[in-house]
Amino acid sequence: MNFLDRNEFNFEPSQKVVEAIKNFDPKDLCFYTRIYDQGKKSVISVRVGEIYGVPEEQVLLTYGGEDMLKNAIHYFLSINSQEVNGTPNTKILIPEFSWWYYNKVAQECGGTFEMYPLHEKEDTFAYDIDEVIEYTNRVHPRMLLLASPNNPTGNGLTPEETARILENIPSDTIVLIDEAYASFISKDTAYIAPLVNKYSNLIISRTLSKFYGLPGLRCGFGFIGKGHDQFLSYVNKYLGYNRFSEAVALAALDSDDHYRHVADDMEWGRQLYKKELGDLPGFKVYKSVANFILIKYPVEIKDKLMEELKAQDYKIKFMTDKGLESCLRITLGRKEQTQVVCDTIKRVYNNK
Ligand SMILES: Cc1ncc(COP(=O)(O)O)c(C=O)c1O
Repeated sequence: MNFLDRNEFNFEPSQKVVEAIKNFDPKDLCFYTRIYDQGKKSVISVRVGEIYGVPEEQVLLTYGGEDMLKNAIHYFLSINSQEVNGTPNTKILIPEFSWWYYNKVAQECGGTFEMYPLHEKEDTFAYDIDEVIEYTNRVHPRMLLLASPNNPTGNGLTPEETARILENIPSDTIVLIDEAYASFISKDTAYIAPLVNKYSNLIISRTLSKFYGLPGLRCGFGFIGKGHDQFLSYVNKYLGYNRFSEAVALAALDSDDHYRHVADDMEWGRQLYKKELGDLPGFKVYKSVANFILIKYPVEIKDKLMEELKAQDYKIKFMTDKGLESCLRITLGRKEQTQVVCDTIKRVYNNK
């Protein structure tokens, strides 16, 4: 099966990752790591701290980005929801058209969510920064969720926009920025340390699942502003992390050249979709900056398209979110996979 529906990695892992797996000593699994005797979480948090220039104490490690969201949302909306006018503040603001999982996690811990709008522009969607600030001050949520780039719309925030939001909202609103796809847009990570240094209410979440192509490893990492000892102790694992994952994660973090090369190759796919489908009536190919692309299509071809893709063992995401029902989200895979999907969409459209 060709899975182009969940923004996974249809390419080869780096040679360093392959070697780390081959050379892993199974006996390492017979013992817990001893790094916590030095007051550190893991060799991964140490390495991530070095790469991003953030003190290890402020690095978070989780079971994928998913688990970062779960930990943060459960903690701040339930365990440590602060009172406003005598009642616990369980509100979270989430972008419209975003990953469905945000709502699910908020609901499972009794949180109440509200959506702030994203605005469709020419070939993209956008945050209206003033509107996000205004909304946050009006609703005064315990958490504000921002995603950059956002899934499925692909739009993001600049560091300046993030700072402007943080500067102008209540300081007891925890801002969680989901940057699961951020490495695709830029290798610049220098903005992270100053932001988490300055804003104690900021959490930035990243993952090895997307750019580093290891969704099966379940390794997420992130950064939090200062002064959150209780939350850190809630998230941290007393007996350390999975030592096999640690070895693989270190190798992946040391393989940027390989993964950057793969990410650059995805441009071919973006261009193909744009060229082949962009001008067809009923289609709109949105700007993509991550490992997926959002395409509006004539929804009357949905059943036939599903059938034809299935017959060739392909899966793409037919969006069902309100307002995006006539969109497809397609993971950018290998060239031959992109060609099959693009040809199939065109064929089904031409024979409708
Ligand atoms: C926007 C977004 N954030 C986070 C994740 C979490 O990925 P993982 O838990 O594999 O790190 C995903 C996965 O698809 C995602 O789309």
